[in-house]
Amino acid sequence: MLIAGNWKMFKGPRETGEFCRALREADLPEDVDVVVCPPYVSLAEAVQALAGTEIGVFAQNCHWEREGPYTGEISPALLLEIGVYGTIVGHSERRQLFGETDETVALRARAALEAGLHVIACVGETEAEREAGRTDEVLRRQVSVLEEDESLVVAYEPVWAIGTGKTATAEMAQQAHELVKSLLDVPVLYGGSVKPENAAELLGQPAVDGALVGGASLDVESFAAICRASSLVRS
Ligand code: PGA
Repeated sequence: MLIAGNWKMFKGPRETGEFCRALREADLPEDVDVVVCPPYVSLAEAVQALAGTEIGVFAQNCHWEREGPYTGEISPALLLEIGVYGTIVGHSERRQLFGETDETVALRARAALEAGLHVIACVGETEAEREAGRTDEVLRRQVSVLEEDESLVVAYEPVWAIGTGKTATAEMAQQAHELVKSLLDVPVLYGGSVKPENAAELLGQPAVDGALVGGASLDVESFAAICRASSLVRS
């Protein structure tokens, strides 16, 4: 089980330090891998505040080149230099708001893996795609550009469930995860309005290997509660 907190554009270094020090003291299960994904400017603070723990620090994106004239981008090498362990790529907010495509997601994933970072690659259909019965086709297309790797994890995040309070039913999640797993032999996280109240049901599905949590990861107690729920369903 892997529970990753995607903080999006929340928490500068000061709040990150406070959060991470509180997370160190929280009651976290030992059999769950826990990861936080702060904004770039807070990564170094998170690495420092979590030093000596098993909690991993991931970025929310990274570029495919090692260095160069790419204003506003951050490379895997730069992340590794400050002790970052992995990165998210292809989040639907990047696909929808910042022009990310399957091709750029593939480039980012490959470069990050080659550089030695762990990667959470996000896939998922929009509401219109689901209503048009195109969920499988979209997932197949998005997954087809990724290559199996022992440091790769896929996150299935139905776009209509992100930040909306709507969650996929456990059956929808199980079905989508089975499809992804039939295409790529990697762990698959569920993401989209995961909270302490619904975590056990979603994480109880056999093809669900963890969660990518947005809103509910911003509070130490609710994040820790999701980590505990994920441990209970597998014990
Ligand atoms: P949410 O976000 O949990 O706030 O829906 C999930 C995500 O975007 O990764």
